Amino acid sequence: MFKKSRKQKRNESDHSNIELDLDNIPQHVAIIMDGNGRWAKQRKLPRIKGHYQGMQTVKKVTREASDLGIKYLTLYAFSTENWTRPKSEVNYIMNLPVDFLKTFLPELIENNVKVETIGFLEDLPNSTLNAINKAKVETQHNTGLKLIFALNYGGRAEIVHSVKSIYEKLAANQMSSDDITEDMINEHLMTHNYPDPDLLIRSSGEQRISNFLIWQASYSEFIFNEKLWPDFDKHDLIDCIKIYQSRQRRFGGL
Ligand code: IPE
Ligand code: IPE
Ligand code: MG
Repeated sequence: MFKKSRKQKRNESDHSNIELDLDNIPQHVAIIMDGNGRWAKQRKLPRIKGHYQGMQTVKKVTREASDLGIKYLTLYAFSTENWTRPKSEVNYIMNLPVDFLKTFLPELIENNVKVETIGFLEDLPNSTLNAINKAKVETQHNTGLKLIFALNYGGRAEIVHSVKSIYEKLAANQMSSDDITEDMINEHLMTHNYPDPDLLIRSSGEQRISNFLIWQASYSEFIFNEKLWPDFDKHDLIDCIKIYQSRQRRFGGL
């Protein structure tokens, strides 16, 4: 599934009729995977069925991102605010990485994908943590797509955390206030190993950032896709990239 030639990709037909430019693939794509609950509601199913189906979309989108040569794919899976949901829903979501990796880890390994995370993992249940750590260890030497799950992640909490660690270094006289620069703050964020996202996609039609990568998305291109996450597919990802390619990024310049 993963290994398609670039030539095949070029011929991928699409309603927009625009060719995908394989020389201008965004390096880092970040996605707010939203709409699982509404997808289930539309079908008179419990919300957890939407989360299950959303997990299938994660597989499809990961395969496509890898095929396209995207270097970093960051997926917002659980926010620091999502703990306010009913316990049964939270428990179900917490078990999804276990399920996901049980069925998908061999394919990730085979396709050279490296699993990483951002977020406060220490608050996750042990079974979730164990599954994730196993995936990280078993993919640690892979050099292809970096698949980064944002788990118990929140942009504000991340900034608070980084300010604290900077303060501790100041208090210990390991640095002075003159050392505080944008690069230095970047170094203290959970995303310090990654470039800023070029493209930020949110599914389900909602148009807000919901505390995702609030520092890092300063100059990301935002695309709001109407589809609910379980309905999102590889063609939608390709369409988003085509839209991205049609935009002019200016970074404040001309
Ligand atoms: C996104 O889908 C998944 C998580 C936030 C964990 P939602 O569960 O938010 O689905 P909607 O927005 O209620 O439809
Ligand atoms: C954002 O979706 C979080 C994730 C996709 C994990 P939410 O559904 O939690 O966001 P709001 O509540 O609509 O802003
Ligand atoms: Mg939602």
